[in-house]
Amino acid sequence: MGNVFMKKCDDVFKIATEFIAQKEISKDYDFLIVDFHGEITSEKMAIGNLFDGYATLVVGTHTHVPTNDARILKNGTSYITDAGMCGDYDSVIGMNAQNSINRFLKKESIKHFPANGEASLSGVVVDCDVRNGLAKNIESFIFGGSLKNIN
Ligand SMILES: [Fe+2]
Repeated sequence: MGNVFMKKCDDVFKIATEFIAQKEISKDYDFLIVDFHGEITSEKMAIGNLFDGYATLVVGTHTHVPTNDARILKNGTSYITDAGMCGDYDSVIGMNAQNSINRFLKKESIKHFPANGEASLSGVVVDCDVRNGLAKNIESFIFGGSLKNIN
């Protein structure tokens, strides 16, 4: 969980640094997926670089908006700033758009509720190297829904 614009929680950089100092990939664990739930791209990229060589994948989540930066970092960790959501992109991050606009306008509105159009499935596929626990390839995908025709 990120620390910027998120609910208060432990210092993620302190905890991550302690984990990296105490555990060793291929010895204490075979593979490691870090799902970094955060709001801002710089914090996610910093965590990606911190875990480079120690995690198989660092995948950002929470914004619901997929980024186009899937890659292998220099020490072998696969990375994407945000994998996107599984939901209806004809929306405001998966929620009914008009109700969300009304809330921003401080007009009468109700609690956020999901948009219920055709959903997209967003994510990444990673080829893992069983010899060292790192990644050989990463590909992001968006399947179905309103983003499917955007290249
Ligand atoms: Fe979230």
